[in-house]
Amino acid sequence: MASEQLRVGFIGAGQIATLHALAYEDNRDATLHAIADQDADVRAARGAEWGVGVAYADYRELLGNPDIDAVEIILPHHLHLPVTLEALAAGKHVSLQKPMCLSLGEADQIIAAAEGSDRLFRVFENFRSYEPYRLAKKLIDQGEIGDPLSLRMKNISGRGVGGWSQTTNARAWRSDTERSGGYLSILDHGYHMASIATHLMGHVESVHTLSTPKGDSVVPATQEMITFRFAEGDRLGSWETVRAPELLVRTKYYGGDEWVEVTGTRGVVWVNRCSGDLLGIPPVTLYRDGELRQFSDLDTDWDASFRDGGMEFTRAIVDGTQPDLDATEAKAVLAFCLAAVESKQTGRTTLLAELDQEETKA
Ligand SMILES: NC(=O)c1ccc[n+]([C@@H]2O[C@H](COP(=O)([O-])OP(=O)(O)OC[C@H]3O[C@@H](n4cnc5c(N)ncnc54)[C@H](O)[C@@H]3O)[C@@H](O)[C@H]2O)c1
Repeated sequence: MASEQLRVGFIGAGQIATLHALAYEDNRDATLHAIADQDADVRAARGAEWGVGVAYADYRELLGNPDIDAVEIILPHHLHLPVTLEALAAGKHVSLQKPMCLSLGEADQIIAAAEGSDRLFRVFENFRSYEPYRLAKKLIDQGEIGDPLSLRMKNISGRGVGGWSQTTNARAWRSDTERSGGYLSILDHGYHMASIATHLMGHVESVHTLSTPKGDSVVPATQEMITFRFAEGDRLGSWETVRAPELLVRTKYYGGDEWVEVTGTRGVVWVNRCSGDLLGIPPVTLYRDGELRQFSDLDTDWDASFRDGGMEFTRAIVDGTQPDLDATEAKAVLAFCLAAVESKQTGRTTLLAELDQEETKA
């Protein structure tokens, strides 16, 4: 370690990086030491806001700075693979924003680089660090609902009331399929949903996607109904995405929200909020044996999941442990997303085991 506290650099200091910075406000393990962003306005604004004096236009200069122990890569999707490989080769610990990358072939390159390095690599997916999902996972693992049987997930993309709008930068690369991968409801926001499904219920074996408008389209779908079978147990899942631009969503962040329901042999658990607060009800509800329990005393602000997720990363470096998501688990989540895209393209059920491991790309 180059200093007593780890020195972290952000590669990409755009819109979501503002929430990543919360992890370094009161972090005994690490400080935010440098940023790299190609946009001069972003560099100036974030440098001043975060009190970070070291700012580069070229991320390679940040990677060449021996004072930096670890990096958070918070870049458009097409850069996830090359910058991760360069960062590991430069001897930095890496936290890579979701989605891991854009194809299974790319994921394999990251797995090989992570396995060949003595540095920590993880994919940053903030829903797994969100307290209501943590509680739901704990309740399920403790057997509170018996053996989990079915998962239902809903994501609404509407219009935020008082929240964020996407910045020009963030919109531009997302609307370019080469840079984002397209299929945003499945590969961009959807990576969170696939991650949570996998986290709560295990790996997915097969996927079928229905969408409207019908057929293959990289432009945002109005609706998708994605159904899937889990590899273990008699477990099925469904995941509905709805784009309703006039629907008002109470949120401090993006104009979207989601909720999840898991039914087991003895009970049901609901997580009723995350990015937004459309329902305005307690974040976690548990039903079992005729009793309904509601859990309200949780940190439900979405920003806390970024603070906690970032602090998990730096603590794990200090402790020498591996936080979620390691490269192999991150690839399993990506495979679920890519299978949903392939099924949308072909109109047929996709078996994850039959995805082309070399090339599969949205
Ligand atoms: N819930 C979440 O965890 C969440 C939410 C939003 C975005 N994200 C993810 O975060 C990442 C960034 O998304 P965003 O919305 O903040 O985008 P953004 O466009 O606001 O930020 C990306 C930044 O990268 C910079 N950049 C682009 N190419 C560069 C290069 N070659 N060298 C240096 N800087 C470069 C841009 O100038 C920009 O400031 C994506 O992976 C996205 O999926 C995650």
